[in-house]
Amino acid sequence: MTSEYRFLKACRREDVDATPVWMMRQAGRYLEEYRALRAQHSFLEMCRTPELAAEVTIQPLRRFDIDAAIIFADILLPLPGIGVDLEFAKGEGPVIGNPVRSAADVDALTPLVPEQHVPFLAEAIKMVRREIEGRVPLIGFSGAPFTLASYVIEGGSSRNYVNTKQMMYGAPAVWHRFMDKMAGVVSTYLDYQIDAGAQVVQLFDSWVGVLSPADYREYVLPYSQKVIESIGGVVPVIHFGTDTATLLPLMKEAGGDVIGVDWRMDLADAWRVLGDDVGVQGNLDPVVLYAPPAVIEEKVAEVLRSAAGRPGHIFNLGHGILPTTPIEHARVMIDAVHRLSAR
Ligand code: CP3
Repeated sequence: MTSEYRFLKACRREDVDATPVWMMRQAGRYLEEYRALRAQHSFLEMCRTPELAAEVTIQPLRRFDIDAAIIFADILLPLPGIGVDLEFAKGEGPVIGNPVRSAADVDALTPLVPEQHVPFLAEAIKMVRREIEGRVPLIGFSGAPFTLASYVIEGGSSRNYVNTKQMMYGAPAVWHRFMDKMAGVVSTYLDYQIDAGAQVVQLFDSWVGVLSPADYREYVLPYSQKVIESIGGVVPVIHFGTDTATLLPLMKEAGGDVIGVDWRMDLADAWRVLGDDVGVQGNLDPVVLYAPPAVIEEKVAEVLRSAAGRPGHIFNLGHGILPTTPIEHARVMIDAVHRLSAR
């Protein structure tokens, strides 16, 4: 049964009856039923309460005919366990109290012990699996070593990644030791989700597009590769980044059954660069969902034309759905994908 899911077939580049579709950040703020729960709990509380995390994971499935669920969690959840103080400040996003800047800071980080540090995650995954069995598969996820490291070094979100690149260029030995630790954390975090029942995993290297190809190869590729190799093909891996037009061949080299691309690139061009031996996920501009329904359908058709029915296409937005997106417009996109791609 499990292997018959349209989504998993696409991950293996097998023929499907219609193109599978899901939305990054589909479990979240654009849904009023999410905001209602969120009004009563902090974000971290929601992540750490399996019943709430499972409920929020399932919310979009009640509204839309999407082809996968993604577990409600965050790429930053492993950080407190390894000694990084994490807070989500109101209106500010993540804030890290003790950013890692030196060799001593790197050495002070401790290994992730998931059973001790993120047990709620396995529980939530098991609860969701029980509820959605036979309907859609469940995606687990992690930040990729670079994107995770950049938060830990910068202390939060960043525009120019000055501290991150300062460590990379100014203290390469410290950088490599840090990235090696991050790769270990990410592998452990993903293995734990897979053991609990995640049927696919996505590696979010959301901000890797700030790097040149040469720097990606030297400072990032070996660590993403190590993570993906450690999964060893047990489940399909989606390897995602934004602003990656110049990095795609290197991301493919690092690994992944499916490479996620944003909207800045035509999907056909992305696939030409990547080659036919890998799947592609994407790539509608999330802001298209603010357009009139007829325009959304035309833009969906455009992406599908670029994919040209190749096996291995998973339809998605090019990045996460934005919190103010009109909900009905998400439905327009999802239904158009299935209708226009039906084989
Ligand atoms: O896709 C899903 O619906 C699953 C849940 C999910 C969340 N975060 C929940 C969340 C996923 C896959 C993530 C990934 C994530 N987290 C990324 C990579 C994703 C990407 O878009 O590329 C990053 C960079 C983070 C770190 C993070 N978490 C930031 C920067 C913020 C604050 C800014 C923001 O988007 O709100 C968060 C908070 C967060 N993670 C929220 C949710 C639903 C909002 C929390 C709230 O309700 O206030």
